[in-house]
Amino acid sequence: MKSPPAPHPFPADRASTITRSLSRVRALQFTAYGGPEVLSWAEAPDPHAGAGEIRIAVRAASVNPLDWKILSGAMSEGRVPGEPQYLGYDAAGVVDEVGEGVTGVAVGDEVFGRGRNTQAEYAVLGSWVPKPPSVDWAVAAAAGVAGETSDRVLRLLGVSQGDTIFIDGGAGGVGAVAVQIAIARGANVIASAGEANQDYLREIGAVPVRYGEGVADRVRAAAGGQVDGVFDVAGRTPVGELTSLVAEPSQVVSIANFAAGGAGARVSTGGADSRPTEALTEVAELLARGKLVIKVQTFPFERAVEAFRISQGGHVRGKLVLVP
Ligand SMILES: NC(=O)c1ccc[n+]([C@@H]2O[C@H](COP(=O)([O-])OP(=O)(O)OC[C@H]3O[C@@H](n4cnc5c(N)ncnc54)[C@H](OP(=O)(O)O)[C@@H]3O)[C@@H](O)[C@H]2O)c1
Repeated sequence: MKSPPAPHPFPADRASTITRSLSRVRALQFTAYGGPEVLSWAEAPDPHAGAGEIRIAVRAASVNPLDWKILSGAMSEGRVPGEPQYLGYDAAGVVDEVGEGVTGVAVGDEVFGRGRNTQAEYAVLGSWVPKPPSVDWAVAAAAGVAGETSDRVLRLLGVSQGDTIFIDGGAGGVGAVAVQIAIARGANVIASAGEANQDYLREIGAVPVRYGEGVADRVRAAAGGQVDGVFDVAGRTPVGELTSLVAEPSQVVSIANFAAGGAGARVSTGGADSRPTEALTEVAELLARGKLVIKVQTFPFERAVEAFRISQGGHVRGKLVLVP
């Protein structure tokens, strides 16, 4: 029998007025741009929940390609980091501080969602939902960015019951979640992956095709003609090949090829198109019902360098997740 949870020292109704300083917290960090070898797992200032935010004691935080893109300095516009920089955009954990104006969540609740600097012992989330009790911490942590991104692009494509879509890069973090959400919404999904992931795509319900030269022909053969929309996850296929698959170029949405707009496709980076809470709510429900299965590979925070190297390699199946 499950024993009742121990009372938390900071009751929910007082949490918004308490700024609890933690004596020693650790976070993944870097002070110079570079490869994963510049990362260290070291002490850091304790973060606090601002208005509309919560702080969690992190039980798991996922690795997204954006982490090593930021780390590389490719997105720094030539600036050098003046002080330690932190990484991570999603996590799962136990609420330990509730920011001003936040309702419906209390200290001690188990949640997952999206935030900043989440690859740490404590992190601040800006959007979250309750973690279903049956869902592992690592799986919940893996669902934040991938779930929000998938929901956003499938909505932009207007994917609904009976549509046929092509997901280019269907076996990775975003792709595998997008495949399963699209199927849950009643779509038929054709997805691409390398040879090693063809069976995996089949397992999650997609019709697999190999990416690379001739991919558009293989998709047409699988679909019996054009498709209703293309979700370009990997950003590797020439955009003209992708637009040849749809009636209107705008029915191609890319999250990784920022030049795709030149060919009439749409590029999505979030912003106003994002509705994180709704997306996370749907994802939590699909996870709890077993309609969404996320394959995770976990690494202790101290071994984050290995996870970053695998992510950089570009052939992740499912998600890489860091755990304390
Ligand atoms: N704009 C946004 O809002 C947003 C949000 C999230 C992510 N992203 C970006 O989206 C991209 C994917 O993210 P992710 O988390 O899914 O990455 P990931 O987990 O590393 O997965 C990458 C996937 O790409 C596939 N792939 C490799 N070469 C390919 C090719 N030539 N054609 C098609 N697929 C290929 C791989 O399949 P195999 O393993 O079978 O080779 C792998 O499954 C990254 O660039 C990321 O930064 C953008």
